[in-house]
Amino acid sequence: MTERAGRNLGLDLVRVTEAAALAAGRWMGRSRKEACDEAAVRAMRLILATVDMAGVIVIGEGEKDAAPMLFNGESVGTGRGPRMDVAVDPIDGTSLLACGRPDAIAVIAVAPRGSMWSPGPAFYMSKLVVGRDAREAITPASLDAPVPDLLARIAEAKREHVRDLTVFVLDRPRHAGIIADVQAAGARLVLRTDGDILGALLAATPGSGVDVLMGIGGTPEGVISACAVRALGGAMVGRLAPQKPGEREAVEAAGIDPRRTLTEGDLVASEDVFFAATGITDGVLMPGVRYASDGATTDSIVIRGRSGTRRTIHADHRLDKLMKLSPIEY
Ligand code: FBP
Repeated sequence: MTERAGRNLGLDLVRVTEAAALAAGRWMGRSRKEACDEAAVRAMRLILATVDMAGVIVIGEGEKDAAPMLFNGESVGTGRGPRMDVAVDPIDGTSLLACGRPDAIAVIAVAPRGSMWSPGPAFYMSKLVVGRDAREAITPASLDAPVPDLLARIAEAKREHVRDLTVFVLDRPRHAGIIADVQAAGARLVLRTDGDILGALLAATPGSGVDVLMGIGGTPEGVISACAVRALGGAMVGRLAPQKPGEREAVEAAGIDPRRTLTEGDLVASEDVFFAATGITDGVLMPGVRYASDGATTDSIVIRGRSGTRRTIHADHRLDKLMKLSPIEY
């Protein structure tokens, strides 16, 4: 039985993303992707262990044999409190962090046990995300609609012109068609090398400067994005889009229908969802970690689906004291 979480678990979860950001931020621009990841995963796991919930990782670092920590199926939390599914991305944008580029974030989402969709062996999916002011423009058929028609519907819902819209797309050769279509339609583009959780978050946040996210990205990132989109009241549709050799066969062998169109409600089937993210490098939504001789600052957002409240949290950390509380290398 799932407990209707009366307390805001998100306020506990933000400590988890703060810890990941504080540990990983030291690796900014040092070209060491593995070190970035290891620092974030280790810190995230140590603080996650202190959160009062009986959590199970649904979206983690992969299967147990490949991922020693935060693997899919791992129990996390103290074991006391609500039974929750947990989705983590200790760093969305590991390359951004390793290369010293903006918009790397640490992310976690939780929802009642059994409510998160598990992508199995699927790596890639098509995604379309808008904010709540354009919800009515999106249906499952939108994923197959010609881009100019889709943008016209979104603009109409927002009582704007297509030229006023900004579309976030990952800069990948596979998106050449989408990019050309958006350009031909006359909308503006934000082209990024990485980080489509942030893209989804921006698209679902009214007034962020991004109106739509489109394109193919990671499936785990898609489920985490759906948690944020659902909590913010936006709309998302997605469909698996296998890209790697053998991916389609593995998906079908796992009994997953790759043709099914999934909404944010299919990807996370509860409004009792919590989402937290902390900036690691400076970004459009929040600043990154700032270190000083006696501490560090972080900036985070926490969203609670049931109330729809989105909080921004600025924290001043005393790293010397934190390190005494748990063995994290900040
Ligand atoms: P990681 O930081 O976990 O490597 O993911 C970065 C990312 O850009 C995601 O935001 C996105 O969903 C995915 O990679 C896209 O995959 P690919 O780089 O293979 O196109």
